[in-house]
Amino acid sequence: MIFQSSDESQRRPSGWWKPAVVYQIYPRSFADSNGDGTGDIPGITSKLDYLTELGVDVVWLSPVYSSPMDDNGYDISDYHNVDPLFGTLGDLDDLIAGLHQRGIKLVMDLVVNHTSDEHPWFQESRDPNSPKRDWYWWRPPRPGAEPGTPGAEPTNMAAAFGGPAWDYDERSGEYYLHIFSRKQPDLNWENREVRRGIYDMMRWWVDRGVDGFRMDVINLISKPEKLEDGVPEPGNQYVPIFRFVGRGPRLHEFLREMNREVGLDARNLLTVGEMPGVTIQMARAITDPANAELNMVFQFEHVDLDRMAEGHKWDLKPLELPALKKNLSDWQVGLGDVGWNSLYFDNHDQPRAVSRFGDDGPQHRVNSAKTLGTVLHMHKGTPYVYQGEELGMTNTYFSAIEQYQDIESVNYHADALSLGMEADVVMRSLSAKSRDNARTPMHWDDSSHAGFSEGIPWLPVNANYLAINARAAMGDPDSVFHHFRKLIELRHEYRVIVEGRFQLLLPDSEQIWAFTRSLDNSILVVIANCSSAPTVVPAEALPDLGRAQLLLATHAATGTLQLQPWESRIYLLR
Ligand code: GLC
Repeated sequence: MIFQSSDESQRRPSGWWKPAVVYQIYPRSFADSNGDGTGDIPGITSKLDYLTELGVDVVWLSPVYSSPMDDNGYDISDYHNVDPLFGTLGDLDDLIAGLHQRGIKLVMDLVVNHTSDEHPWFQESRDPNSPKRDWYWWRPPRPGAEPGTPGAEPTNMAAAFGGPAWDYDERSGEYYLHIFSRKQPDLNWENREVRRGIYDMMRWWVDRGVDGFRMDVINLISKPEKLEDGVPEPGNQYVPIFRFVGRGPRLHEFLREMNREVGLDARNLLTVGEMPGVTIQMARAITDPANAELNMVFQFEHVDLDRMAEGHKWDLKPLELPALKKNLSDWQVGLGDVGWNSLYFDNHDQPRAVSRFGDDGPQHRVNSAKTLGTVLHMHKGTPYVYQGEELGMTNTYFSAIEQYQDIESVNYHADALSLGMEADVVMRSLSAKSRDNARTPMHWDDSSHAGFSEGIPWLPVNANYLAINARAAMGDPDSVFHHFRKLIELRHEYRVIVEGRFQLLLPDSEQIWAFTRSLDNSILVVIANCSSAPTVVPAEALPDLGRAQLLLATHAATGTLQLQPWESRIYLLR
């Protein structure tokens, strides 16, 4: 039983994952054991002491399954096997055993909104007479249109990675739906057999020893009742896909069924659903333990604040601190009594936090990385650390399109140029937002290729690895690494950090991020200067700090409320 009573105050989840901190590993870029330039599972296993030193409780492993790698493994052709690029099932068993020996759990990425087009299910489905025909979304061309010509698609939805969301298959004589690339056809969750196949597969992984699932774009599994045309914007006949999908009518039903059939709660697994477009209200229902759906979701609102409009990721808008604070605060309040938040700034799809929300220049990089960590980790919810975030790794600042590998970036560049956009504007957007910013190899030391590989890395190593690397950080007590280690320790030590009620202070300040967390007689007070200029926190905005204990700070204590650029402090009052 995860909850003990139907009384509202008792309906908070009490799972083991509440005081936990999760570390995300993007296997291609973490550690390469065999010199082929791509990270692999034995490489991860060789770094377990590092994870132990950092103190994380859980590893989320991005996909390592068999894949043609159109989207770096988020296009799976065999759910029951490991891609040879990453190793073998035996290597994965060794990794699980090694993690478990150290008390660390393993959460697998679960990509079941779509498969690869090379998955046998899809290959069979291409035959209109196959029993698997209905496993994917097949539709005839638009009436009267010549199949395969522009505009003949069944509807005018645009795919997330560019082009139409429908691709014509000559063998079938019909179009199939793909929200992402044309090599990622969407599974039809309306079909009971599809769902059964997936639950079987999930049980197989649980029996193998995994401790949970990070569910890729899981809110997209329930499609709208009708797939229809949307209203296009000037200059583009196709309409961004996220205007149509994400809030399908059967989502809750599917998640409950999955929970029941796989035994997600019964087997005490960690479940986190990635959900573009999710609202607080939806998240509250999904993470209310009484509904037995998921433990938590990844929301996108805070990482969408620096884009002009929905579907316009690349049209940059300056980020304002009050908006960012307000967004996280709204989620804290919205899921304050029922449900649970996940906390993240970084992952394999987002630019590096220190470059995006901080100041990654030489003067302020370390303190801004620490302060962003402080702010995020002192919120209520489960924090996610993305590999290299604990070192304050920065964006890549590639200068040539040839350096980019990510399908989304490469397609965007081609599409934008074909629409007549200026090349340097496009490159600026990529520099700020490309997913490759997060995917450059992990910096282990100052040897060649940052100690990531003895071969040529699949994606260039960031040139700043000589200064920013794990070996240097571990040897420096003032490093970003040790700051993250202490943040994780604090969460393990103080219940107020796990459970305390959140209240935002100084909501309109454009420099200061301040809040309290309260539980019983304890009050945690966090003050952070999120700017590169000094500032003073008005004392009247805070509880009296006279008797407060300073738990962690970026700078030496001064006894005043003057904050240096990117200075942050965590106080405890009891
Ligand atoms: C999720 C993944 C992303 C992937 C997409 C399609 O958003 O995090 O990397 O490209 O789903 O699977």
